[in-house]
Amino acid sequence: MKEAVQSLLERASRALSGLEEDPKALDQARIRFLGRKGELAQLFKELGKVPDDVRREVGRVLNEAKAQLEELFSEALEKGREHAEGKREAIDVTVPGRVPLLGRLHPITQVALEITRIFNWLGFETVEGPEIELDYYNFEALNIPKDHPAREMQDTFYISEDVVLRTHTSPIQVRVMEKRKPPIRIIAPGRTYRCDSDVTHTPMFHQVEGLMVGKNVSFGDLKGVLATFVHEMFGPEVGLRFRPSFFPFTEPSAEVDIQCVICRGQGCRVCKQTGWLEILGSGMVDPEVYKYVDYDPEEVSGFAFGMGIERIAMLKYGIDDLRLFYENDLRFLGQF
Ligand code: FA5
Ligand code: MG
Repeated sequence: MKEAVQSLLERASRALSGLEEDPKALDQARIRFLGRKGELAQLFKELGKVPDDVRREVGRVLNEAKAQLEELFSEALEKGREHAEGKREAIDVTVPGRVPLLGRLHPITQVALEITRIFNWLGFETVEGPEIELDYYNFEALNIPKDHPAREMQDTFYISEDVVLRTHTSPIQVRVMEKRKPPIRIIAPGRTYRCDSDVTHTPMFHQVEGLMVGKNVSFGDLKGVLATFVHEMFGPEVGLRFRPSFFPFTEPSAEVDIQCVICRGQGCRVCKQTGWLEILGSGMVDPEVYKYVDYDPEEVSGFAFGMGIERIAMLKYGIDDLRLFYENDLRFLGQF
């Protein structure tokens, strides 16, 4: 019997070595040796057949063997647990790191920030207005009554008879003058909407409105501010020209073209072979508009302008199709 116990202990400790990393195999071995029908239990069954005089002694040996086996298994279990934890904490420093995907500002946003930076530097304060706008601010208070032919100049998205998606940022002029008294010097960047689409037009685009009103503000101030802006944005060598134009809310009015930076004035598909690209509309605020905001045209004068941010961005980065900005192609957007 003693030999049987001895051999059981030896086989068990042999079976256990190397099983620490494998909790399943360890459990199977435990059942095989220590289970209710396991090898040790079989030996306990034999105890009945042992002669009376040695039964006590054999019982003691068996109980000791049981304690030893339990000890062996709990040690192996403990080792296995430590091993698993070690594995979890181990860091393989040779694995190459993952580069986190960084987002960036959309090129239009970057250009809008650059434009506002320049005008802030010239003393203009940044303000904002709603994209869903009342017909009153988008048209009427800008001297464009309902039956006015100038409404045809901008293909409007109507939400209802009196509510539109703003077709330009000019309604902000009225909103600001309504609330404040001159002197006023503001710029207002934002989204605008028109039913329009080709290489230089998209249905949603961005404008920056500018407005300066005060005593003795002249057309010369308008020219000086816009020339300073163009040279700060594109460099002192880029030419600009003021072309007579018409807007119902300015008089006189002028559109400003800058030399096409893409073809350097040679003519290309962006400038429609003219060498020039229109970037903004501008003019002296029409006295009619002052009537809507209770300003006295005898007392104050001012200028306003509205420029297309996409046009500026195309020229700044040499992009020949405006629609690229809105296709969300990361190969394109990633270059800015
Ligand atoms: C206006 O929107 C006037 N509100 C500008 C203005 C403001 C004049 C203040 C006088 C005083 P216009 O429709 O020309 O004008 O548009 C101004 C600029 O917006 C254009 O020069 C062009 O750069 C840009 N633009 C117009 N339509 C689109 C379009 N569909 N996609 C991209 N840019 C556009
Ligand atoms: Mg125009």
